[in-house]
Amino acid sequence: MNAATLTRPIGQSGISASAVGLGTWAIGGWMWGGTDEAQSIAAIQASIDEGVSLIDTAPAYGMGVSEEIVGKAIRGRRDKVVLATKCGLVWHTQAGGYFFSQNDLPVHRYLGHASIVHEVEQSLTRLGTDYIDLYITHWQDPTTPIAETMATLEALKKQGKIRAIGASNVSPEELRAYIGAGPLDAIQEEFSMVKPDIGETLVPISQAHGVSTLSYSSLALGLLSGKIGPDRQFSGDDQRRDNPRFSQANRSKVAALMADIAPIAEAHQASLAQIVIAWTLQQPGITFALCGARDPAQAKENAAAGRLRLSGEDIGIIRAAGARHLVGLDA
Ligand SMILES: NC(=O)c1ccc[n+]([C@@H]2O[C@H](COP(=O)([O-])OP(=O)(O)OC[C@H]3O[C@@H](n4cnc5c(N)ncnc54)[C@H](OP(=O)(O)O)[C@@H]3O)[C@@H](O)[C@H]2O)c1
Repeated sequence: MNAATLTRPIGQSGISASAVGLGTWAIGGWMWGGTDEAQSIAAIQASIDEGVSLIDTAPAYGMGVSEEIVGKAIRGRRDKVVLATKCGLVWHTQAGGYFFSQNDLPVHRYLGHASIVHEVEQSLTRLGTDYIDLYITHWQDPTTPIAETMATLEALKKQGKIRAIGASNVSPEELRAYIGAGPLDAIQEEFSMVKPDIGETLVPISQAHGVSTLSYSSLALGLLSGKIGPDRQFSGDDQRRDNPRFSQANRSKVAALMADIAPIAEAHQASLAQIVIAWTLQQPGITFALCGARDPAQAKENAAAGRLRLSGEDIGIIRAAGARHLVGLDA
């Protein structure tokens, strides 16, 4: 590791945060085969100890479980954390459109005014705080005009309940509508070596308007952690169990990619996951890389990637390796 922890500004908000962010979807347990609260709290605290300030959660991650665990982990350390959470996946109303069920309850995509006002209070309580640094619309709701949602978010900002506004899982049209409606600071979108599409679609728009981009599933749900061998199995409701992304063919392709990246990792005295995260942060327009971690070891490893800088030559070698090995990968 060869530099200070990388921090970057979140849009025009005046808030800066660590470029490596801790994602806490898996910590909510749902779709990840359950969670261990003590390990999760230890993971969050280890991230903060290693210089990670950005922590991302959402009400939908275990229907409040992830937010509650984050709240417990940051008690007494709120000032060290830039907290991002979300709105718009709701189970207190059946307005908007049905999206999926969790715990036998229908979850709807809905971004109406009264619903967001309700949601923000729930999140503040679960997180044990009186402000959210970055409040993000989780999935988009075609039944509510974006201008109306933005007006609600701006009102929350004036009240001091949120400090910056983000949107997630947007189309280019929706992104333009947000930018036209008010001060959008960030988008949060899937981006990784196996899913680079937004580099061509959303990122040019964000960059042109000073909107930060937070990549999610930066390790491709762990496929790019350098630790998913042919024998790794997933149990319970772990989404990776039936996900074609984790097919044996894909694991072989990623293993070949990792073999080509290994000399770069060795030269930097870094792990493969750290090289992948550092690569992500050096892609044009990718401001923050959110990485999930379930225990302190993963948390520390990922956090330390924020102190790694790859050379132009490293990036070129990785790009060529990706072009060689990731073609035809089912992502
Ligand atoms: N806005 C959205 O719609 C949206 C969608 C998805 C994610 N996100 C956000 O983005 C965050 C990151 O994405 P993600 O959690 O989906 O996927 P990810 O970061 O690509 O992968 C996380 C998983 O990879 C494994 N892993 C991580 N670091 C590791 C390490 N150093 N060594 C070995 N294994 C490691 C862990 O799984 P195992 O220990 O089980 O192997 C971990 O749970 C989420 O937590 C969430 O905050 C947002």
